[in-house]
Amino acid sequence: MSKAGSEELFHAGAHAVASTVALAWSPLPEKPTLADFFNHRFNRVRNNLPFAPGNHVIQSAHLALKAGQTEETVLACLLHDLGLWLIKPDHGWWGAQLIEPYVSEKVSWAIRYHQALRFYPDPSVGYEYPEMYVRMFGQNYKPASHIEAAYKHARNHPWYMAARLITLFDDYSFDKSATPSIEPFLDIIGRHFKQPKEGLGYDNTPVAHMWRTMIDPDRPV
Ligand SMILES: [Fe+2]
Ligand SMILES: [Fe+2]
Repeated sequence: MSKAGSEELFHAGAHAVASTVALAWSPLPEKPTLADFFNHRFNRVRNNLPFAPGNHVIQSAHLALKAGQTEETVLACLLHDLGLWLIKPDHGWWGAQLIEPYVSEKVSWAIRYHQALRFYPDPSVGYEYPEMYVRMFGQNYKPASHIEAAYKHARNHPWYMAARLITLFDDYSFDKSATPSIEPFLDIIGRHFKQPKEGLGYDNTPVAHMWRTMIDPDRPV
């Protein structure tokens, strides 16, 4: 195909995608807040996930709240799987980076390491290896070396329990058809999440592009 021909095809494709996107994703306010992302993006299924990450993390936060955990732990549970909405592999690392400029170092640390800790039981707090992982990865699955290294690092870290608590409330037996609200957590978000005045995606931090990608996740370029 000639260069002009392939360029034409690319632009036609881009145009088709752009029209689909306009229908698929509801518009966000000019200066989107974390709650806007929960209400317009995280409550939707993406990346071929079997559930909407927003609904799952809201349930985790409810469980942490009910167990009398600190607001910092409730927030960590509330944000722990947002990386999945963006990209599946290494979602702990992506998810931690996404919120790093806006939360305490401990919260983003806990989110980074929860992914690795999921593979390792801790009977001292009643955390067992997930049944779901046996189905997903098979019996006697050995996690990748970077996961094992992350686990060992976290296990000996003073903040270990912050990440471990996320795994404890990381329950996937929620009602997939329910649409839980972010509303009960707005006060905790207000106290522990430094919402940028320019809006997420427009504050020029090293992670602003990640939020912009989530504003329009199917943009062709
Ligand atoms: Fe996770
Ligand atoms: Fe989770």
